[in-house]
Amino acid sequence: MTDFTAPADKPLRHFLQISDLSRQELLYVLERARIIKDKFKRYIAYQPFHDRTLAMVFEKASTRTRVSFEAGMYQMGGAVIHLTTTDSQLGRAEPIEDTARVVSRMVDLVMIRTFEQSRIERFAEFSRVPVINGLTNEHHPCQILADVFTYMEHRETIQGKIVTWIGDANNMAYTWIQAAQRLGFTLHFSAPKGYELDPARLEGVDATAWRSFDDPVHACRDADLVTTDVWTSMGYEAENEERKQAFARWCVDANMMSQAKPDALFMHCLPAHRGEEVTAEVIDGPQSVVWDEAENRLHAQKALMEFLLLGQLEPS
Ligand code: CP
Ligand code: NVA
Repeated sequence: MTDFTAPADKPLRHFLQISDLSRQELLYVLERARIIKDKFKRYIAYQPFHDRTLAMVFEKASTRTRVSFEAGMYQMGGAVIHLTTTDSQLGRAEPIEDTARVVSRMVDLVMIRTFEQSRIERFAEFSRVPVINGLTNEHHPCQILADVFTYMEHRETIQGKIVTWIGDANNMAYTWIQAAQRLGFTLHFSAPKGYELDPARLEGVDATAWRSFDDPVHACRDADLVTTDVWTSMGYEAENEERKQAFARWCVDANMMSQAKPDALFMHCLPAHRGEEVTAEVIDGPQSVVWDEAENRLHAQKALMEFLLLGQLEPS
C-alpha cells in the first residue's frame, strides 16, 4: 500500500472559515474535488486514509453534513466517530478546551458543528489535529466549497460572475462574501430591514466583493446564480414567527428568476421550506441544481480532508 502519511513537519491547518485558505489553495482543493469525484464515479478506489480517524462533533442537527463526512471518510479508507452534545461530556459542561486536548490525541481530524464561531476557535486552539467547521452561527465554509464546485461543474468559472443572495444575513451569506473576495466574483445581497449585513463583519472586505439591494427583485437582475436559505437558522427558532412576517417578500420565485441571466442557476444549501424562501416551481424547476449541490458536499469535503491531512499532492 502507498504510504500517504503526511510529513511530521507539515504545519497544522484548520478550515474554520473560507479565508483560512488562500485563493490558490481553494482552487487546488476544487480541482482535487473534481479528480476525486471522477475517480469515485468510475469505481476507482482511492483510500489514502487507512488507519486514520475523523471525529465529528454535532451540537446542532444535520443530515447532509453528517452523511457526507461519514461516507467520505469511509470511502477514503478511514473511520469515523460521531459525537453529540447529549451523548458526550460536552453536554455535562466539560470545557471545550479539555475536549479538544483529549479528542485530538486520539483522532487525526475533527469536524465540528456548533453555535458561536468562538467555540470552534477555542477547540482549534487546543487541538493537535486539523479542525473543520461543519457550520457555526457565523460561517458554513464546507457548504460554500461545494456550492462553488457545483457552479464550476456547470459553468466552468465563477470568477467575474454575479451571485445573488436573497434572504437572511446568516452564516451562508457571510461565507459567500468571503468566497467572493477570494475567488473574484460579486455577491448581490438583499434582506428585509433589520436583517441586513453587519458592516463591522465586513471590514477589510473589498467593495467589489458585495453590493446590497433593498429590493430583492432588483438584486436578481443579471445574476448568474440566485441562491437563498431558510429565513430562520438553527439556534434562532424563537424568532420564527416574526421572521415569517419580515421575509414574506424575500421568496425566490419565477419573477425573480426571470430578472437573472437566462442561463442562471438556482442553489439552496438545504433543508428548504417550499413556499417560504423559495417556491416549489423554482427549487424543483430546470434552473435548480440543488441535488448536485448536496451531492458535491461529499466530493468537496473529501478533497478538503485530503488537503488538511496530506497537503498539496503532485498532479496524478
Ligand atoms: N446544508 C447542510 O449543511 O445540511 P445539513 O444541516 O443537513 O447538514
Ligand atoms: N443557515 C442555516 C443553514 C443550514 C444548513 C442554519 O444555520 O440553520
